[in-house]
Amino acid sequence: MKYQTPRGTLDFLPEKCAERVLIEERFRNTFTRWGYAEIRTPTFEYFDALKLGTGDELIESMFAFEDKGGRLLALRPENTNPVCRVVATKMQHYSKPIKLFYIGPQFRYEEPQSGRQREFWQAGVELIGVNTPEADAEVIAILIEALQNIGLKDVRINLGHVGVFKALVKEAGISLSDAAELRKNIDKGNLDALEHELEVLSLQDKLKEAFRLLPHLKGGIDVTDQLLELVESQDVETAIENLRAIVKVLDGYPYTGQISIDLGIVRGIDYYTSSVFEAFVPELDESALGGGGRYDTLISEFGGKDVPATGYAIGIDRCHLALEKQNYEFPSPEIRILVLYITQEERNIAIQTTISLRRAGFPVLLNLEEKGIVAGLKFADKLNIPYVIIIGEKEAKKLEVTVRDMNIGSQESVTLANLIEYFFTQMTK
Ligand code: HAM
Repeated sequence: MKYQTPRGTLDFLPEKCAERVLIEERFRNTFTRWGYAEIRTPTFEYFDALKLGTGDELIESMFAFEDKGGRLLALRPENTNPVCRVVATKMQHYSKPIKLFYIGPQFRYEEPQSGRQREFWQAGVELIGVNTPEADAEVIAILIEALQNIGLKDVRINLGHVGVFKALVKEAGISLSDAAELRKNIDKGNLDALEHELEVLSLQDKLKEAFRLLPHLKGGIDVTDQLLELVESQDVETAIENLRAIVKVLDGYPYTGQISIDLGIVRGIDYYTSSVFEAFVPELDESALGGGGRYDTLISEFGGKDVPATGYAIGIDRCHLALEKQNYEFPSPEIRILVLYITQEERNIAIQTTISLRRAGFPVLLNLEEKGIVAGLKFADKLNIPYVIIIGEKEAKKLEVTVRDMNIGSQESVTLANLIEYFFTQMTK
């Protein structure tokens, strides 16, 4: 117990860590190419600020604690709220749209299971200051691109609109707590609990039927017709028109067949106002790799006027799991050359050779203890290092080294002056 990490946390040993860093770098690369700039916010903040706009589900999951001065703090459970705080308080003068991304750890006190930790990493994007279907579509497009660029196959997006749910709640005139319960049951797909709740609520039959229908409205954009036939509500119509407009913009992107409508997506966080979406791959069908949507009123909760915004976050842990399930082959570790010297006399030449190869861009290990050639070659073999440079007394005198190609077992002499060029030629073969 003493030396275990707390429940829901993970150590990443070098091999896994290298894979994670690669995933993060690929996300960073995609976001940057789309014109988004990185932002970093503290991992802990004032509880009262972090809870704004998020709702009970997230608030209950927060790791909250008092500091030594009695101030109530919490570890951030997600990064959209902190980004909005920064935009509202420090970035008012930036010209819009503001395009931001973040990559970092988040914390939720949840029941750990595969793909669900208490400390997990997110890579997210926030597009602030534009309320057009083009902006909604762009964010969904970067989600697909980002997931594909880390190597995932068969990425699918389920797209809904929380405006539809909110319009039905308005029509029904039900209490906030009843609405929250309905949303939770729809979001989690608890259909029995949803049915039970609808039975006890006194509502028009058509509205009951509409709530009942939401989790089943999946497929092409035409599924929204069923709802329009059932209820007459200007707000429902407006929400569906907005959804149609977003789908129309998405038709211009090369993702035909990857996006489906799912009006059962209502999300577990409060701040969403319109489009909402989640990303999946078939190998991890039950857990979303990422999710997001439009939140046009969150920024004003930190002061000032409403600023429209949309974004999403991807769970890096789940992406890693999904890549493993898809048998993705991560590139093998990078060390390409091991430098061995036979006696202390050749140490300085070995150091200089290593330094100049590293400066030329090759990842190189220098032997740090007297191993002898045989042990050195065994070591290179174990680590799958493809080339070993051996520097002995005779070679050093002639300003030469022996290069052993570990894959074919051959050796040749190369002058120090030609060594960098030699490796450039070898490694581009
Ligand atoms: P979220 O749906 O709560 O949204 O989280 C986004 C993603 O983070 C999930 O799809 C999942 O992959 C990952 N995730 C969430 N909780 C855990 C966990 N306990 N363990 C592992 N992975 C987890 C948000 O966080 C919003 N801030 C997204 C957003 C950005 N909306 C607008 N902008």
